[in-house]
Formats: sequence, C-alpha cells, structure tokens
Amino acid sequence: MATQTQDEVLSASHIPSHVAIIMDGNGRWAKQRGLPRTEGHIRGQDALRTTLRAAARRGIKYLTVYTFSTENWSRPQEEVDALMSILVSAIHAETPQLIAEGVRMRAIGDLSRLPQQAQDSLAESIELTKDGAQITLILALSYSSRDEIRRASQRLAAEAAADRLRPEEITEELISSYLDTAEYPDPDLVIRTGGEERISNYLLWQSAYSELYFSETYWPDFGQEALDEALAAYASRERRFGKTSEQIQLED
Ligand code: IPE
Ligand code: IPE
Ligand code: MG
Repeated sequence: MATQTQDEVLSASHIPSHVAIIMDGNGRWAKQRGLPRTEGHIRGQDALRTTLRAAARRGIKYLTVYTFSTENWSRPQEEVDALMSILVSAIHAETPQLIAEGVRMRAIGDLSRLPQQAQDSLAESIELTKDGAQITLILALSYSSRDEIRRASQRLAAEAAADRLRPEEITEELISSYLDTAEYPDPDLVIRTGGEERISNYLLWQSAYSELYFSETYWPDFGQEALDEALAAYASRERRFGKTSEQIQLED
C-alpha cells in the first residue's frame, strides 16, 4: 500500500466533532527565553489563532479552550490584570477575522467575575459572531468544573425548593442541561499542552468518555502540526464506551 500523507490519514479517519484544549505552558515558554510570563500569554494568542484555523480546516465543529480558570484568580494580581487586558485586546483585534472566517464565539464560566470591560467585549464579540457556521470557539473563562456543577446545583435546588422540580426528575440529561455547556456536545478529545498530565478542574462531567491526549509542547509553540499529531493519535484509538472491542467492531 502506498504511504498515506498526513492529509489522507486525517481525512480518511474519524475527525472529532468537539476538541477541548488545556492551553498550558505559556509561563515556562517565556521563562525558557528569559522573557516575562506575560509575553508567553501574548504568544499564546497567536497559537490559538493558528490552532483555531487548523481545527476549522480539519472539520472540527467545536473548539473549547481553557483560557482562565477559577483557580487562576489566585495568581499575582499583576498577572491577573495582564491576562484580563490581553483578553480584551485579543477580542477586539481578532473579532473581524472571526466573522470573516465563520467562527462563532461563545463563553462558559462565571463571567460575572470578569472585569466589566472584559464582559462587555465578550458580549459584543459573541453577538457579532453569532451567525458563524464554520466552527464554534468556546472560551472557558473564570471557569472550573466544580464551580460550574456548584452553580448548576444551586439552580436545581432552587427549582426543587419552589416545587417546580421533583428529585426523581433529576436525570443525567437534566444535569447536563443546567451546565454552562448545555448547548454543546461532550468533547471527543481533550488535549493538554505543556507536559503536565492532569485535568485541573476542566470539563469533569463532560469528559467522562473523552479521549485524553497530553503534549509536551508549550502552548505558544502549538499549531497545525501539533494538532495533527493529536488528531492522528485520536484516530488510532478505539472508543468503547464500556462495551467490548468485538461489539464495537460489529457496529462499524
Ligand atoms: C497557561 O499557561 C495560561 C493560563 C493558565 C492563564 P501558564 O501561565 O499556566 O504557564 P505555565 O504552566 O506556568 O508554564
Ligand atoms: C490550567 O492551567 C488552566 C488554564 C490553562 C487556563 P494551570 O497552569 O492553571 O493548571 P495547574 O495549576 O498547573 O494545574
Ligand atoms: Mg500552567
């Protein structure tokens, strides 16, 4: 058999519909170069632009990116301020291109904790890009899974307390519909860059059956090539969802 090119391998095989990324390693990327951590975050924006484009080209429909966690609020105030200001300027700079390329931008997390300017820029870009049909880019901002589940639980409990919900009506589907991700499918593939092999409070409920892929690459160096490596690894996996390999092969 002739050797297949990367394009053939990836187009011939199963492309995940939803990829979620933990964009880690900005600080170490900068430190390695004797630069301030902020420079790593700025370069991280370039990596996201490149990766988003590559994802759209491969036919991925949803890309959820861990941009700022609930726990990241505990970083030094100077770094938090820098991250918020990079967020606002990135949204302003990128939105016209997002519109042009058919990217629909959305956000998950406790957005009420973001500075007002960030909330406003985000809301504006979400509105301006709402008709994008190529790919949905979901920014996880002031997000953590446990916080998301806590917020959902409070709303469920309030419904029950008001006699609008009976405990036996709480199904897995109902819980999913109370999460920030209610409108989106579960991620098929979760990628973490930067060499750490942990989930850091990201999409815990939603990634119950996601394939996990860990990359040594620091986020600012991530792009088309690194994404393709992750997609090739994904294509080689067999997702069994609790069944046997034989059952899965019969279904195919
Ligand atoms: C990820 O890079 C970006 C955010 C968490 C905001 P880090 O800033 O965590 O970079 P490292 O892990 O220190 O290298
Ligand atoms: C996870 O990275 C959060 C984001 C990428 C936004 P962290 O750097 O905050 O995670 P830990 O602290 O190493 O687990
Ligand atoms: Mg980190």
